[in-house]
Amino acid sequence: MQALDKDFLKALEKIQYGKNYTVEDAALVLEAEREVSAALFEAADRVREQVFGKGVYLRGIIEFSNHCQKNCHYCGIRAANKINRYRMPQEEIIEAARHIKNAGIGTVVLQSGEDPWWNPERMVQLIKNLKDMAGITITLSIGERDFQEYALFKKAGADRFLLKIETTSEKIFSAVHPDDQLSQRMKCSKWLGEIGYMNGSGCIIGLPGQTATDIASDILWFKDMKMDMIGIGPFIPAQNTPLANLAPGSTFMTLKAVALTRLICQKAFLPATTALETLEDEGQLKALKAGANVIMLNFTPPQYKKDYNIYNNKKAIGLENALKTIERAGRFLQMEVQNK
Ligand code: 5AD
Ligand code: SF4
Repeated sequence: MQALDKDFLKALEKIQYGKNYTVEDAALVLEAEREVSAALFEAADRVREQVFGKGVYLRGIIEFSNHCQKNCHYCGIRAANKINRYRMPQEEIIEAARHIKNAGIGTVVLQSGEDPWWNPERMVQLIKNLKDMAGITITLSIGERDFQEYALFKKAGADRFLLKIETTSEKIFSAVHPDDQLSQRMKCSKWLGEIGYMNGSGCIIGLPGQTATDIASDILWFKDMKMDMIGIGPFIPAQNTPLANLAPGSTFMTLKAVALTRLICQKAFLPATTALETLEDEGQLKALKAGANVIMLNFTPPQYKKDYNIYNNKKAIGLENALKTIERAGRFLQMEVQNK
């Protein structure tokens, strides 16, 4: 065995048994070569089995507006991009949610750009109308808002919130987010936890200048914040963006990051992300075998979906595909308890 492999195994063991590990240990695990990475994936798979069993949770996502006031350098629907903009009418959002429910899926994820047209009043109306549908869990993914608004949405019936930190590196964060501050994003995440949302975060793998230590720091931050849901996906270039010519993120590094997150944040829901499946054949299958236990299905009506291109060639995962992947992973569909 090479000296490096020994160090990797030692770090992996420390993390696995929750001993006093450091960010350097976590980075070392992320730097594992292919030959030794199986030990990481197997460890993550075991923890997933112990904590969650074989169930894979499905979520139905509705991309209800692609208007956005921000200009994140990696994103295809950033404000500066000349694309077809849409806002789904409320009735169509409700209709899409009904499809999700009829497919036996209990959780609706409402995702949009940062769209101020969806002001507190409109959002509350939408949330209340959705909530009238018996037994639906509502997840919001609509970006940064102030404390009062987050609290208002919770009170109206929203249950969960996804707000990715994207990276906890101050340097990288400010380089790719011209309109945002890392401290404010962190504050929003803290509020969401305080208000009582099931709290979701996540990061992008392959941002310019990002090192294994940066990713390890993200994962330790997720743990610190007691995140309930953590979505980790590779960077994929989007046309007409400042990062259009950057190479895509490594799917191997993404899988290692998912596995390490499973070891460190054992009880978190971890999606096998659409971005991973977009970049690599069987990417979601591999993620399910490396600690992931959630798949998000796209229920955006086709006439809108074609304009929600946050990155190039984005795949839309359908129910049939997901079921096949779940079966091939030797897992089963987790049915969720309906509360009404
Ligand atoms: N590559 C990968 N992920 C991206 N996102 C946005 N643009 C890209 C891209 N080019 C992700 C961000 C955001 C989520 C909605 O999509 O993580 O939070
Ligand atoms: Fe807007 Fe989100 Fe894209 Fe940033 S990542 S430009 S906030 S949709």
